[in-house]
Formats: sequence, C-alpha cells, structure tokens
Amino acid sequence: MDIEEQKRQAAAKALEWVRPGMRLGLGTGSTARHFVALLGERVAQGLEVVGVPTSEATRAQAEALGVPLTSLEETPELDLTVDGADEIGPDLSLIKGGGGALLREKIVAAASARMLVIADEGKWVPALGRFPLPIEVVPFGLAATRRAIEAAAVASGCPGQALLRHDNGGHAFVTDGGHWILDAMLQRIPDPRGLAGRLSSIPGVVEHGLFIDLAHAAILAGPAGVRVVERPPSNVPKD
Ligand code: A5P
Repeated sequence: MDIEEQKRQAAAKALEWVRPGMRLGLGTGSTARHFVALLGERVAQGLEVVGVPTSEATRAQAEALGVPLTSLEETPELDLTVDGADEIGPDLSLIKGGGGALLREKIVAAASARMLVIADEGKWVPALGRFPLPIEVVPFGLAATRRAIEAAAVASGCPGQALLRHDNGGHAFVTDGGHWILDAMLQRIPDPRGLAGRLSSIPGVVEHGLFIDLAHAAILAGPAGVRVVERPPSNVPKD
C-alpha cells in the first residue's frame, strides 16, 4: 500500500466520526484533501453537514464538490475538525503548518469540540522536532523576530536556525493571512509546551505550528492497517 493509499484510508476511517447535522472544520494538506473528497461523495448522497475550511485551497475543493460552507463568524462553535499533521507525538501534540495554513487550522481546531488527526504512520514520532517547525510571522521587523525565535529555541533546549520559507518563484511564501513563515530547524524539541509559550510571547509571531492539547484522537494508517490513538486521559481537558 503506497503512502497516498494510507492517507486515503485514514481519511475514510475519519468519516465514521461524522454525523448528520455536524459542523465540521475542514483541514488542509494532502491527507485532509482525501477527507474532503470522501465527504463530498457523502454529501452528494444526501449527508447534511456544514464545513469551515482552514485554507483557500480547501475552500475551493469543498465548493467544487458541493460541500456546504460556513464561517466562524456565522458558526463560531464546531463539532469536529478533521485535519492532517506533519508530526504526531505520543501525547498527540502536533507539528502543523507544512502547507502554510497553521493559523486558520489552529483557530478552527480551537473552536471545535473535537479534533481528529488523520495521517500515515510515518508522521508518528517519539519526539517532535525533526520536521522544521513552521512559525507564522508579520513581515515587519523580520530580523528582530527571527532573533527572538532563535533565542526562544535556545532557552527551550533546542537551538536551531529559523529560515524564511520561499515559494516556487523564489519569493517569500505568503500565507492566506498575508504573513510570512519562518521554518525553525530544531531537530528535537524536548519541551514543546515550554517552547510554545515562549514563541507565543514574541510580538512579531502571529502563530506557531505546535498544536498542544488540541487533538483528541489520531487515525494512523500504515501497511498493517489503520489504528486509532486516543489522547492520554491526563491531557484531555474536562468539557
Ligand atoms: C497545512 O498547513 C499543514 O498543517 C498540514 O495539515 C500538514 O502539513 C499535513 O499535510 P499532509 O497531509 O499533506 O502531509
């Protein structure tokens, strides 16, 4: 089974969590794309749901498939968000933002009663950090913000460079929110919660790709099949 088929299987399993009438957060990336495609098939068969897309790319896909969309302005509370991830740790902390949609993804996940992560087994890691950590920043003051980010990484026990992301044309990659992204090369993040707090306190940082206490379960697909990992109870906030 190739990786694309694994992603599709994880997405298909996630459909079992979807109920008629649900308000859904629709993730971004190649795995979430499978979920939206399969959801579109169910909608065509009569399933009634509404979705909030986490990117303009997902919006375009959902619209093309006839999935009814809403916004967090109209629908500020969602039932379930289904999204991919770049890395998933054993406590279901995540690195997200490889596709550049981390800001909207985090807002939508935080507005959802549950977040379900779908991925191939290759995303499951013993510790976060090998995947460069995306950090969305405002263009103003970039050099100062970068220095502050690198200092935060040192203070968190994972020194590394933060590199400006470029698009295929060699220009700074611009997010849906009009910001830039620094990818922090940290290798291993020993204290994701501590780093998250330090990054959030830097004025030029809009958002970072550490998703902590947001995912409730992960659906992981590998050559041996699909497994569901629930977040350990100690990390599940009381509803
Ligand atoms: C988008 O900004 C990301 O957070 C994606 O969810 C993440 O990069 C996973 O994407 P893939 O499913 O394409 O690996």
